[in-house]
Formats: sequence, structure tokens, C-alpha cells
Amino acid sequence: MTACIVGWSHGKFGKLDGETSESLVVKAATEAIAHAGIEPKDIDVIYVGNMNGGFVRQEFHSSLPLQAHPDLRFKPSTRVENACATGSAAIHMGLNTLAAKKARFVLVVGVEKMTELNSAQAGEVLIKASYVAEEANIEAGFAGIFGKITSAYFQRYGDKSDALAKIAVKAHKNGAKNPYAHFQREFAYDFCRNPSDKNPFVAGPLKRTDCSPVTDGAAAVVLADVGTALGMKQAIAFRASQHVNDFLPMSRRDIIKFEGPALAWKRALAEAKLDLLDLSFVESHDCFTSAELIEYEAMGLTAPGEGERAIHEGWVERDGKLPVNVSGGLKAKGHPVGATGVSMHVLTAMQLNGSAPEGLQLPKAKVGGVFNMGGAAVANYVSILEPLR
Ligand code: COA
Repeated sequence: MTACIVGWSHGKFGKLDGETSESLVVKAATEAIAHAGIEPKDIDVIYVGNMNGGFVRQEFHSSLPLQAHPDLRFKPSTRVENACATGSAAIHMGLNTLAAKKARFVLVVGVEKMTELNSAQAGEVLIKASYVAEEANIEAGFAGIFGKITSAYFQRYGDKSDALAKIAVKAHKNGAKNPYAHFQREFAYDFCRNPSDKNPFVAGPLKRTDCSPVTDGAAAVVLADVGTALGMKQAIAFRASQHVNDFLPMSRRDIIKFEGPALAWKRALAEAKLDLLDLSFVESHDCFTSAELIEYEAMGLTAPGEGERAIHEGWVERDGKLPVNVSGGLKAKGHPVGATGVSMHVLTAMQLNGSAPEGLQLPKAKVGGVFNMGGAAVANYVSILEPLR
């Protein structure tokens, strides 16, 4: 156990007209520092998770948190980028800084302002997180990458559209209770299952309801070493944190196996000395419903090709044996790329200290898992969190 989350903040995700990445960063940083019960001057190091790549013109983000308070001036701050796992990458950089004893308190802010572009333009930015030399011409932006993965999965294991629709229904049922979520309403099974004008095919077998939306948002955490955390109001410890990168080209991998995510999970559970079902819940990277389906297999919940059992048999529902994405996941909450990994850690920390919003809080939340993925199973981060005391 190397470090703890001792403060956090989470803004509303959605299409946030009138906000900029600067305003989102300032609010998130201010609230997380206040929640930790410390002063801005106490922060030693800052990391900003932001993918950008053209979503907004302001590319250089590292000093934006300094706009929150003059006492943050002259603190070392760095922008971190690792595609859709950018938020977790920034947190893991913070953990490394604490392990190296270079700081007592680290502020991590994850932010993305995506909706200044329309969906097609956002897709052009997101496709940069593929292996451009071979994959950039796939249609429909990053959804096209997962359309291809989903088609390959269906070819090997059969059509799993029923399971994908149920995963979308679960996400929106959970997200309806999440005041931070982009979509806070339930979606009917028939609507998610059947293509329609309001739910057209986007890429391969993926329909609109199988995709996470294009979203703005920010979230932040304050990290501290364990000794310091013992004296704080709240402290959620990292029992394990693992990061595994795989080859970027899909042509070099069996893309429906998600070997990088599987290895990250295996290493994290070994580090934590836990079995998967010792976890009370998991926040997993459902950028597309098929990603969540394959992640059930990668985390070891089912054998390869049998991920549908986890949803058909209710294991991953709120009251199942391993609830997955009780927050609504990326699908309902939204996926503001740089903020997503931080958001997953914040919502897990809230569950573990019993302060999740009403309706979202699980009755038994002792140990939580987070899986955040950059690219198509390329940059893979698993954290296992539990209350320090
Ligand atoms: N799920 C459910 N409903 C969605 C949605 C989604 N992902 N995205 C948009 N909608 C709804 C909107 O709320 C709107 O509803 P309304 O008509 O009731 O107001 C309607 O669909 C049309 O919205 P619009 O933004 O015009 O849709 P779109 O077709 O341009 O975009 C996607 C939909 C799925 C293509 C877009 O959200 C997308 O590209 N998502 C993937 C993003 C991505 O690749 N992220 C990285 C993953 S690694």
C-alpha cells in the first residue's frame, strides 16, 4: 500500500455550454483541495490529465490549475496523456511521485471539453488514438475500431446483440441515479436492442445506444502518502495499482482477447492478494457495450466467449455478485476522455467511504476495482481501492 486518495471532487458531466477546460479545471481543483481539508499551499506536485488532440485550441494545460489559487504558483505541474486512460495515467504518475517521496500531497485533475466539436469532428480526434498507419481510415472514428472488434467477436462466438442491449439498459438504469451523469434517464431494452431512427447503427453491429457519448467534464483527487493520510478526514488506499501497455497495431494482437487488460487485472489481484469476487464492485471501461462484455472475460469473471453470462444471469447488476458500473459507466455518465479515469477513482472512493449520492451508494462497499483503458486495449490501468481504516 503506497498511497491514498484523501480528497476528491466531481463536476456534472454533459454538454457544458459556457464552460471551458480552464473553468472546469479551476472548479475541480478548488473543490478537491477543500474536500481534503488542506490549503492550496500544501500541494507539492500537480498532474493534469487531458487528451485534447484538437478538441479545444488551448493545448497546453499544465498551468491551468494554478488559476485556482495564487498559492499554486511555482508548483511543478505536468500534463499527462494516454488516450482514454489519460485520467488513470495522471493518477498513477501521482502514485509514482509519492512512492519516490517527492511529495506529500499530489493534486490530479482530469478534464476534457469535447462538445465544441460535433460527433463526426470528435471522431476525427479520437481516431488518433488508433494505430494511424493502419487503422485511421476505418469509418465512424473510434466507434469504427470497436465496430470492427465487435464484428470479429460475433464471428467467433455468435451474435451477442441481446447482451449488448442489456449492458446498455443496465448502464442507463444505474446512470439515472447518478447526479453527475450526462444521461440521467432509463433506456428501454427494445429501444437499445432494435435499430431505429433514434438508435441507428453507428459502426458494424454497434448502434448509438452501444456507444459512450461525446461529453465535457472534470474530476479531481488529492493523493497523499499513507503516513500523512492517517491524519486526514478521509483516506481511501490503493491496495494495488498496475499498468500494462500492449502493442498499438490491432494486426499484432488477437484483438478480441484483451490480453493487456487481462494481464493488468491478474497482476493487480495478485498484488492485492485478492480473488476477483472478493471485490465489492468494479468500475470498468465501457466506452462501448462490447468493450464491457469482453472486459468481463478479461477480468476473469467468465471464460472467453462467455461474457454474456455475466449480464444474462445478473451477476453484474447492482445487486449481483459483482456489480459493474453502478455509476452508469462511461455509457451513461459520459466519457470526457481525460476526466474519465479520475471520475472512476472518485466514484469508487465515494462508494468506499459511504458518501456516494443517494440511490447510487451500495450497501456493502468494502473493496472496489477500477479498470481504465486507452485505445483498443492498449494502455491498461487497474487500481484496487479500500478504506485505509
Ligand atoms: N447514447 C445514447 N444516446 C445518445 C448518444 C449515446 N452515445 N449520443 C447521442 N445520443 C442522443 C442525444 O442525446 C440526442 O438525443 P435527442 O435527439 O433526444 O436530443 C441524439 O442521440 C442525437 O445526438 P447526436 O449528438 O446528434 O448523435 P450523433 O449521432 O452525432 O452521435 C455517437 C452519437 C454515438 C456517434 C457519438 O456519441 C459518438 O461518436 N460516440 C463515441 C465517442 C467515442 O468514440 N469515444 C471514445 C471511445 S474510446
